[in-house]
Amino acid sequence: MRKKIVAGNWKMNKTLDEALALTSEVVNMVNDEVTGDVQVILCPPAIYLTTLNKYVENSPKIALAAQNCSDKASGAYTGEISASMLKSIGIEYVVLGHSERREYFGETNAQLAGKVNIALENGLTPIFCCGESLNQRQNEDYIGFVKNQITESLFHLSEEQFGKVVIAYEPIWAIGTGLTASSEQAQEMHAALRAHIAGKYGNEVADNTSILYGGSVGAANAEELFASPDVDGGLVGGASLKSRDFTTIIKARQ
Ligand code: 13P
Repeated sequence: MRKKIVAGNWKMNKTLDEALALTSEVVNMVNDEVTGDVQVILCPPAIYLTTLNKYVENSPKIALAAQNCSDKASGAYTGEISASMLKSIGIEYVVLGHSERREYFGETNAQLAGKVNIALENGLTPIFCCGESLNQRQNEDYIGFVKNQITESLFHLSEEQFGKVVIAYEPIWAIGTGLTASSEQAQEMHAALRAHIAGKYGNEVADNTSILYGGSVGAANAEELFASPDVDGGLVGGASLKSRDFTTIIKARQ
């Protein structure tokens, strides 16, 4: 059975005090209110990971993710953070290939293949992001475009390695815009991606792959999105910065 996951991507938000307050609130709400089987993942800015790990270590439902890691093992790469560093401070997950990193930092499918490799070598679970722009959705084979992102960054992996990857489909036109994909649009893409994975690795691997939806997921639309059979959870941006909204989304998935 694939995991149900709700991950909160804080992006570049929150000072330390704010990060501590938000984490405490989420920990308390999850401990008090979430009874079901759902993995909650907080993705704060990397500078807070060590501190926040102490806040979540007694909450088995909650894990931490970095928002990125380097594709290099170590060395003269000023400002970068390696997968082995994340592992050494007890981090389990890393978000890779977010559309903001692709757009603003020029990350390519080939470079992301390298990041996925080094994350897996260090025992981190990649949350691999993919998704098309509005222009691509209107003018191109948008399903083919997203499938190709997965082919180029993930299909070199062995079956065992691929089995450790979480996919997050985030249509760029729905990120931070308040314009959510409809549950039909999300289901269409998720089913197509699962079929694409089945074509390469077989039905069992595809059935066990968690595919999250991201893009304006909120307290009001989470339940409907999560009702689609191939939507296994969410990668939440803005709404993850508010503990009550984020907990409502988690409860919609449990
Ligand atoms: P929003 O939920 O703010 O649209 O962001 C989605 C996202 O990019 C999560 O990684």
